[in-house]
Amino acid sequence: MQRLAVVVGLVLWAAAPAKAQDMPPQAQRGRELFLNSPKGVACAACHQIKDLGIPAGPDLRTLASAAVPKGLVTAIQMTMTEYVREYKVKGMGSFPAMKAGEEGDQVLLYDLSNNKPELKKVAKNSIDEVKPNTKWKHPPTSASYNNQELADLIGFLRFAATGSRSEVKPEDLK
Ligand code: HEC
Repeated sequence: MQRLAVVVGLVLWAAAPAKAQDMPPQAQRGRELFLNSPKGVACAACHQIKDLGIPAGPDLRTLASAAVPKGLVTAIQMTMTEYVREYKVKGMGSFPAMKAGEEGDQVLLYDLSNNKPELKKVAKNSIDEVKPNTKWKHPPTSASYNNQELADLIGFLRFAATGSRSEVKPEDLK
């Protein structure tokens, strides 16, 4: 009986580290920040990675697999936007939005007005105007993440995008 307990114990002991290795510690910290940031709006409110979050903002895997950490920081803290537009829609007024696609004569827009993206379907002919965005700001620009937090976020994004397990150091961001 004692022997069996030892064997079971050994099997559990061998299995445990394998489980902890699924995600490196840095990626785990970054995942937590991505999901529940204590500083402002969490990334997951707008970005989707695997089964986490909402696909209102761009798919971050593209940039995370191509850019060096410094480039990712620049993108996260960008003050200029590339995709967001100001839409003026009949009966809805003006709001900043990301276009998510089209369905027949409907356009799918993620309304970013209050940074809790809301998917709206609007008829194409109800859109009066589409202007460059001048008002909406990417929330992380004002969230003052420190370099360790940014490194952890990037570690998580890279792990999710490419499976990279290498640690991103705060000095890599300078
Ligand atoms: C309120 C919604 C929102 C939140 C919160 C948010 N983002 Fe974004 N993000 C966007 C939108 C929208 C864009 C596209 C902006 C543009 O260029 O027009 C974007 C763009 C980006 C880009 C550039 C992507 C590319 O391919 O150009 C990166 C990187 C990024 N976000 C990372 C983050 C990270 C990391 C966080 C959390 C710390 C975060 N974002 C929080 C909405 C959000």
